[in-house]
Amino acid sequence: MKTLTALLLLSLAVHADDLIEHAKAHPDGKAAFSFDASAWSDAEATRHLPIGVFDSGIGGLTVLEALLTLDAFHNDTLQPGADGVPDFAQERFIYFGDQANMPYGNYSAVQRTDYLQELIVKDAIFLLGRRAYPSEGTEPQFTKPPVKAIVIACNTATAYGLEDIRKAVAAWKIPVIVVGVVEAGARGVLASKPTGGIGILATAGTCASKVYPRTIAGTLGIAGQSVPVIAQQGSATLAGAIEGDAAFPDSISAYAMKEARALAEAYRAEKPTAPLQTIVLGCTHYPLAKQEIDTAFTALRQEAAFRDHIAEHRTFVNPAEATARELFRELAKSKLRLKPGETCVLEQGLFYLSVPRVEEVGIQLSGDGSLDKDYKYSRSPGNLDFEDTKNVPLTPALIPENSAKLVKERLPAVWRSLGR
Ligand code: DGL
Repeated sequence: MKTLTALLLLSLAVHADDLIEHAKAHPDGKAAFSFDASAWSDAEATRHLPIGVFDSGIGGLTVLEALLTLDAFHNDTLQPGADGVPDFAQERFIYFGDQANMPYGNYSAVQRTDYLQELIVKDAIFLLGRRAYPSEGTEPQFTKPPVKAIVIACNTATAYGLEDIRKAVAAWKIPVIVVGVVEAGARGVLASKPTGGIGILATAGTCASKVYPRTIAGTLGIAGQSVPVIAQQGSATLAGAIEGDAAFPDSISAYAMKEARALAEAYRAEKPTAPLQTIVLGCTHYPLAKQEIDTAFTALRQEAAFRDHIAEHRTFVNPAEATARELFRELAKSKLRLKPGETCVLEQGLFYLSVPRVEEVGIQLSGDGSLDKDYKYSRSPGNLDFEDTKNVPLTPALIPENSAKLVKERLPAVWRSLGR
């Protein structure tokens, strides 16, 4: 499966060579975008490291919720089946949301996927390293533990960066597992036994990459199943609205309706013989708005134009759970899973977000203190001594009010581990 996906993604893979060489040239991890290369030299100590999870913002917390709550295996025997104990109970997670540089899904529309690809490898380097900025102060500190696994909890980042990160990890010769949400999402579609058509809701960038239709078709094909009509709809607004970004002032329901209608139209245009039945929430943020999205499809079904093209009961595929299962299997396979009775070097999980590094000369900000939109989307890769954002501990003030409300209501395990 990995080989197949590698082939499918090959057309997207731009080489992360500059960052690979930069990190090799700074093996003590003190420079920006580098990490302490000696962190994994003791195999026993590696097992006790935490697991890194990253997204472009807070949407990836939906994946963290799945990681914190998954109970699909017996923890002692590793056999499938729930045993009443969360599968990652002993593990600890470091979450990073690259909020200052999001939405990732909008870089492809302005032909800046090269910069996006650099951002994605930088995210991985941050998780691998010890270097992070404090909430107050301008100098980095080196107390953050490195990680033994990286979960790319962002669909757009998986589409544009999974192969680059795997390539970098191999070039650095470090024993770190890399798991992305798209392969897992495709397996989630297979497991849902789709009987009608499939619709993908994702960012504009993820849809432009066509990674979901290709990976789902490949996954169903390998399993000997016929491939139904697959339609996709890329949104430039819904993730931002869910994140509480002031640039998207309408209600989440209004944006959800716009995208559901566009997906239903794209599906109908394929002249399908079966109704749209499986909907892939191919963006981290969308599980937070699942109710609004489902309500939108129910309303659309009342319209004569869509009645025959939308199933009465839709199946939603959230790639997060499949991602959690895959991580469990990969950790067990690599013998990196903590054994019963063992503990992680971190007592509690850690959370980081990126913010503009206002002290950097030449950066441009908008009125609310975020990176100016034109500035953000016109940057080029290759300036590896220039830090216009910095990664700091996530504090309540950094989560927009709407997002905090959604996390509290819909991601209770994450909310608890945020210490709220
Ligand atoms: N996290 C992104 C994803 O899953 C959505 C938000 C963004 O565009 O940055 O595709």
